[in-house]
Amino acid sequence: MDFKFNFSAASDEPENKKENIGKKQDKNLINLQKYQHFTLDDIQNVWRNSSESEVCCIECVNLTDGTEIHFMQTYTDVCKGSETSEPTKVVSKKTGEFTIPDTIDSSDLVSKVYEGGLKVWESSLDLVEFLGKPENKSFFADASVLEVGCGIGLPGILASKYGAKKVVFQDYNDFVLFNTTGPSVILNQCQVKDDEDSSAPEAKRIKTDGDLMACFERVIETEKKIDTKCQYSFIGGDWEEIAKNIDEKFDIVLTAETIYDVTNYEKLHLLLERCVGPNGMIFLAAKSFYFGVGGGISLWIEFVENKKVFEVIVVELIDAPVKREILKMKRLTQKTGEK
Ligand SMILES: C[S@@+](CC[C@H](N)C(=O)[O-])C[C@H]1O[C@@H](n2cnc3c(N)ncnc32)[C@H](O)[C@@H]1O
Repeated sequence: MDFKFNFSAASDEPENKKENIGKKQDKNLINLQKYQHFTLDDIQNVWRNSSESEVCCIECVNLTDGTEIHFMQTYTDVCKGSETSEPTKVVSKKTGEFTIPDTIDSSDLVSKVYEGGLKVWESSLDLVEFLGKPENKSFFADASVLEVGCGIGLPGILASKYGAKKVVFQDYNDFVLFNTTGPSVILNQCQVKDDEDSSAPEAKRIKTDGDLMACFERVIETEKKIDTKCQYSFIGGDWEEIAKNIDEKFDIVLTAETIYDVTNYEKLHLLLERCVGPNGMIFLAAKSFYFGVGGGISLWIEFVENKKVFEVIVVELIDAPVKREILKMKRLTQKTGEK
C-alpha cells in the first residue's frame, strides 16, 4: 500500500485509454472522465452477463469492534498470490466494457486516466478504524452518505453497516466501480448468519456456509434485485463534472487519499460545497505530505481556510514514517463567515 505515482499526462477518452497510457500529451487535449450514474442492479447485471476470465480475490478488513468488511481486490500482487498473502478466494469473470485496462497493471496511479481506485490505500484503513470508534458509529444512523474518491469503498460500506439509509460511492473510473466497489458492496450483503426463521430479504438469507465466494456467485446469479436496507448508488467521473451535475446534499461525506494533487483542490472543494448538507460533516483522511506530488494535509487546510466555506479540525493523528491525519470539516456558521 505504498504510494507510488506514475504521472504521465494522457488523453483519457475511454476507448483510447490503453493506447494513451504512458504517452505524454498536450494538457489541453486531456478530456476528463464524464459524469455517469449507476445502480447496484447495473453492476449485478454486468457481472451476471460476463464470462471471460479475470482473477479477483476477496480480502477482509477486521475492525477492533469486531466488524468485518469484505472487499473484492483485482490485479494487485495480493490477488496474484504474493509470498506474504494468498488470495482468500478467486473469482473468474470479466466485466465487459468495464474491464480493467491491462496497461494500468504496473501503475498505482496514472494522472487523469486512472486515479488509484483499484487498491486499498492506508488512509482509508485509518478512516474505517476511526469511524468504528463507539463515539463515531452513531453518526451514521439513518444518514445519507457520499464517499468521494471511494476506490474500493471501505468507509462507505462501513457506513451502511452502521445504519446509513443511503450510500453513494464516487470514483473517477467506471471500471473501478464495476470491478471493486460494486462487487464489494454485494459481498457485504453475504455477511449474515444463517437463520431459517429470518425475515430478512432473500439475498440476505443465502447461507454462506463459510464460503463467501459461493454466496457472492449466488447473489450475482439471482434474477432478483438485491434487497438491502441501505440504498446504494455509484457515480463515475471527474470532480468538476460531478460538481456540475450533482443536486443532492448529504449528511456525511467521507474521503480518503484524495488530496495528493494540489491542482485538484479547487474542484474537490467545489464538489464538497455542492454536496454537503447545511449540518453535514466531512471526514477526510490523508497523509501529511505526498512526496513527489506535493499535496498534503497542511496545504489542504490552508486552501480550505482561505475559501471560508468550511471550518476544519484535526481529529486524529497517525504516527508512521509518513504521518497520516484525519480531518473533520463542517460548514462555517453565519457568524464566522458562511457565504
Ligand atoms: C489514491 S485513490 C484512493 C482510493 C480510496 N479512497 C482509498 O483510500 O483506498 C484516489 C481516489 O480519488 C479519486 N480521484 C482522484 N482525482 C479525482 C478527480 N479529479 N475526479 C474524481 N475522482 C478523483 C479516484 O477515484 C481515486 O479512487
